[in-house]
Amino acid sequence: MSQQAELEVGGKVYQLPVVVGTENEHAIDISKLRDESGLITLDDGYSNTGSCSSAIAFIDGEKGVLRYRGIPIEELAEKSTFIETAYLLIYGHLPTSQELRRFSELLTQNEMLHEDMKFHFEGFPPNAHPMAILSSMINAASCFHPRLMEGYQPRNFELQSARLISKVRTIAAFSYRKSRGLPIVYPKPVYKYTANFLHMMFSEPYQDYDLKPEVVRALDLIFLLHADHEQNCSTSTVRMIASSRANLFACAAGGVCALWGPLHGGANQAVIEMLEQIHREGDDGSKFIADAKDKKSGKRLMGFGHRVYKNYDPRAKIIKEQCDRILHLLRSDDPLLAIAKKLEEAAMHDEYFIERKLYPNVDFYSGIIMRAIGIPIEMFTVIFAIGRMPGWIANYKEIMDEPNSRIYRPRQVYVGPREQHYVAITQRDT
Ligand code: ACO
Repeated sequence: MSQQAELEVGGKVYQLPVVVGTENEHAIDISKLRDESGLITLDDGYSNTGSCSSAIAFIDGEKGVLRYRGIPIEELAEKSTFIETAYLLIYGHLPTSQELRRFSELLTQNEMLHEDMKFHFEGFPPNAHPMAILSSMINAASCFHPRLMEGYQPRNFELQSARLISKVRTIAAFSYRKSRGLPIVYPKPVYKYTANFLHMMFSEPYQDYDLKPEVVRALDLIFLLHADHEQNCSTSTVRMIASSRANLFACAAGGVCALWGPLHGGANQAVIEMLEQIHREGDDGSKFIADAKDKKSGKRLMGFGHRVYKNYDPRAKIIKEQCDRILHLLRSDDPLLAIAKKLEEAAMHDEYFIERKLYPNVDFYSGIIMRAIGIPIEMFTVIFAIGRMPGWIANYKEIMDEPNSRIYRPRQVYVGPREQHYVAITQRDT
């Protein structure tokens, strides 16, 4: 028999079903609570709220476990590629070679932007942030594909999702070129996904970028590690927008905006800015750690802590190893890596961080790899957005495929003024 929870309020007892997930997670289903009792639950910041059931990603934050569709992130990082993993997330299984070939072909066929989109790029000021450009241009791109406006159609979804994944990479590279006043470099169909991105970023009309396989692999791995992370801020935003039946591109544009903030995807940029500041000030990290522990300073150790992980973020472990490897290969002795390691060492032995279970997250080392590759700091969050696209698409599809899905509409506890009346402006100054 299924388990029930009991809630007693004012002497009345309410029976609430307990839902059990495939990894034995237990949740109290309160969906009928208001109808039966007039009560709602209050959970500021949603730390205890399961907003949906989902079969895409699984995290055990206490143990530091992350799986995409059941497959441990460590195995995917070692054996898979970003595009194969994207397919896994969106369609729920690893692709056969034929499925992967077809998906890759769709990506290649959709890598170009409509030529008229260049006028949109020209409208941005030279110093526009690439995240602003990315979000605007994803919406602009949808205008060139009117069938998107017809909403979700399972039969052309593979094309729509490949179109988004492919075009986002082109928009991102074009926005970087535009921000530097450099000529736009068109994609080359012979290159695979990540190599093509690096080509569009760094080739010049007169000279092709030297595509080092290790560098391509490192960036591909960064994309893969960011591909999904269950109900984080941006994915929840995408699901929220999708629940209103907005089109896929509109949902992704909203996801980009949510990702931009420094407490979410913007943290990778904030980490490098923090490390640069520590380096500039000649601090060995101890002053910054002291500040981060002092609430009045307004500072935090960026790249540390996570709402869900109360253990080492498994992605951070993989990235840290990759970081050492790529810096060695590129013969870079970036002083920021030494500072980052010192900070980590100090924080991991500091009572403040131990007590609060604050460990390095995925952003702590990813920025150092991107810096070594030559990706400018303002593009870091864009790289995250490219990587997260398959996760957003998978979550969008999950909502659309759910026959009983309803528009997301949380409630609130109102704490504003009680009813009062309008006062004419002539009477307000007295
Ligand atoms: N440095 C110093 N103290 C911290 C940090 C940090 N990075 N993170 C959390 N704390 C402290 C808080 O001040 C709080 O202390 P208190 O209990 O004495 O009040 C306690 O740890 C709990 O912190 P919360 O803010 O309640 O944790 P929450 O789950 O809301 O926030 C977050 C998680 C936003 C990631 C937070 O740890 C943070 O700001 N980290 C730095 C930014 C960052 O790296 N973000 C990337 C997250 S990963 C991602 O989006 C890909």
